[in-house]
This record gives sequence, C-alpha cells and structure tokens, in this order.
Amino acid sequence: MLANNPAQDFLGFERDLSDILKFKEKNSIYDVKLKNKRVLVRADFNVPLNKDGEITDSQRIEKALPTIKYLQEMNCKIILISHLGRPKGKVVKELRLDPVFKKLQEFLPLTNVYKAEDCIGPEVEETVMKLKKGEVLLLENSRFHAGEKENSANFSAALSKLADVYITDAFATAHRKHSSTYGVCNYLKENGYGFLMKKELEYLATSIENPKRPFTVILGGAKVKDKLDVIQYLIGLADNILIGGGMAFTFLLAKGFSVGQSIKDESKLEKVKNYLKIDSQGTKIFLPKDVVVCDDINSPNKIETVSIESISEKDIGVDIGPKTISKYKEILDDSAQVIWNGPLGIFEKEEFEKGTKEIAEYLVENEIYTIVGGGDSAAAFEKFNLQDEVSFISTGGGASLEIMKGALLPGIACLQDKK
Ligand code: 3PG
Repeated sequence: MLANNPAQDFLGFERDLSDILKFKEKNSIYDVKLKNKRVLVRADFNVPLNKDGEITDSQRIEKALPTIKYLQEMNCKIILISHLGRPKGKVVKELRLDPVFKKLQEFLPLTNVYKAEDCIGPEVEETVMKLKKGEVLLLENSRFHAGEKENSANFSAALSKLADVYITDAFATAHRKHSSTYGVCNYLKENGYGFLMKKELEYLATSIENPKRPFTVILGGAKVKDKLDVIQYLIGLADNILIGGGMAFTFLLAKGFSVGQSIKDESKLEKVKNYLKIDSQGTKIFLPKDVVVCDDINSPNKIETVSIESISEKDIGVDIGPKTISKYKEILDDSAQVIWNGPLGIFEKEEFEKGTKEIAEYLVENEIYTIVGGGDSAAAFEKFNLQDEVSFISTGGGASLEIMKGALLPGIACLQDKK
C-alpha cells in the first residue's frame, strides 16, 4: 500500500507501508515443527553490566522466557545463542556470558541449564548431543568469533550443525546482518520467530501501519543523523512530531537561532530545513520554545532556562525548558497514540532530567497509549521507575528505529515464508 500524501511528493519520497508488515508472511514459532527437535534460539542477552560484572537490568533475559518455556513444552533441546558487548572477534574475559548463565538458572529453577565455553566446534557439538529434552544449553558469546559480524558462511554453517531448527527472539539485534541473526537461516531452513519478536513487531508495526489518531511522535537523543530517516518516513503519517534532546539544536540552527556550544550537526542543516517546510502539509513539527543551558555538562557553575532567542555564545543546551514542557503536554493530551524514541535532555544527570521525566510521568499519569523505543528512552523510564506503567517498552533501540524508518529487519527477512 502506498501512502498518498502531498508531503511525500514534496520530499520526493514515497512511503510503502507494506514492508513493515511483511513479518506476517514469515513463519512464527507456531508454524514450525518443533516436537523433540534441537532448537537454536537467537536471543539478545546483551544486558548492561556494572563494574563488578553484575547484570543491572535483566529484562532482556526475562522477556526471552516465554519462548524457552514453550520449547520445553514441545520437548525440545534448547540451545541459546547471543552476543554481549562488542568484543571485536576475540575472547574478552569480561564479556563471557557467565552472568547471563547465572540469571537463567535463577529464572529457570526447575530446569537443567548448562553453559558451553564456545559457541561452535566439536566440543560444543558433543555437549549438545548429551542434552536431554527440556534442557537448556547457553553458548558462549557469538562475537568472540570474527565470523559472526562478518556473517561468514563458515561460521553460519558451524552454528547450524548444532540444531535442527532455528528460532529468533533477538528483536534488539534483528537489524544486524550477522551469522547468528541472519546467515544461519541459509543452513537451518526450518525457522521462525519467537514470542518476544512477535510482540515487538506487532506493537511497533501496528502502531505505524494503523495508528490511533492523533498520532504524536517524540524524537530526542543526541544525534540528529540517527533520526532523519525516521522523520522522513513519518512525514504524512504522524500528526505531530515533537523534537527535543541534543538533536533539537540542529533544528533550531536550521531555523536561524544561535545555539552556542550545544551539540549540532551542520552537515544535516539543508535536510532539516526541508523537513521544517512541511509544516503546512499534514505533519506538524514542534521545536522547543525554551531550553535549559549550562556552562559545563560535568561540573556546571551556571544552569539556567533561556528562550531559544537568547542562547548565548558559551551556552550548552542540555534539556527542554518549562514552556516547552507545557506545550508538549498540551499536544500529548490531545494524542491517542505516542511513539517515543530518544530522551529530551541529558536525563542521566539529575540537573538535566526534568524535561524527559515530566513528559514520561505525564504520559503515564494520563494513561496516554505510548510505545517507547528501547535504548536510552527505555533506560529513562527505568530510571524514573515508570517501566511497568507505560503501554509498551521495546527491548530494541536501533532495531525499533529501523522499524520507524519502515524497514523489514534482516533478521526477519531471512526467515522462511509461511507455507
Ligand atoms: C543492542 O543492545 O542495541 C543490541 O544488542 C545490538 O547491539 P550492537 O549495537 O552492539 O549490535
């Protein structure tokens, strides 16, 4: 289905919504014969660790449990694979999956859970052979092998030797074309997606394909370049786009305001100027009216709120100001659906968290249907302890942004079509 919208013509771009929905044509876990099979499950256990190597947020592990438990019901032998961090193709002691293994044992107290020291090779194959039905084997970090990120055929083939069936539940890594998220499907032709993947795709795709209106998108975060394709895709589709965070300063610059020392990307100014022209064509883009500025992000002597006309040469913008917060609340109050990707200020620091926090609280308190893209926005909801109250938080940052650009993720595209 092609969108018929003048804003698209204006930008010389046509949106094809059908890509987003193509996951429905792919095998889900229900479409694959699983009984008594060895199943390789790609999960995303790339969890945050503190300096002592302890997991600080185990949601990604917890959310993979429904798929694991279903496979146990099907009498499968379950082989879990994930990456952790970016070890660049070699073994990095701190990035071994031992903390994940411990957590899995806690989450599955009645199951024999084992861990392998590698993710391919004869020893691992032998361990798999010994697995009994319902037992779980966690493989070691897939990115300890360079072949993983290179999507090497050899590495994919080696992985495929471990199983009869491949199930992917790694939504947060499904935008990566790696061996364990993509290439392995060339070898394990019996494949499909699991329950976490299904939930993520259904929430995100439905909200974009068939939005409740008015539909408002909140975009923040530091880098404007990460969000430009999202804006382009949402023009003519969203009713409102509210801009905040570091990326707002490139927009303010494009409008002719000085932004002092705030983060900006001058290489994107022309594109941003083009987007700002669409205001009269269906999608309204809102920029901050006032911002919080400081003289030094790490040890500020001065923190003040200024209108966007009065940002001085030395100011660094760090948050949206109170007038902007009220204006954005007004728009959100009228919205039937919100998708939020990227914080509105440097929320990690208490002095600069107000914009992100007040807007998050407002959405929750007013029960406005809100889908939060993962990564920093999800971390913000957790910091403010609102993670259980918002409608849906995605486990994927980069992956949810890709969907907001209209992409069919490679980790889904590679799966078998439904028969
Ligand atoms: C994530 O945390 O966003 C995913 O696990 C992907 O990790 P990556 O950006 O290192 O590929």
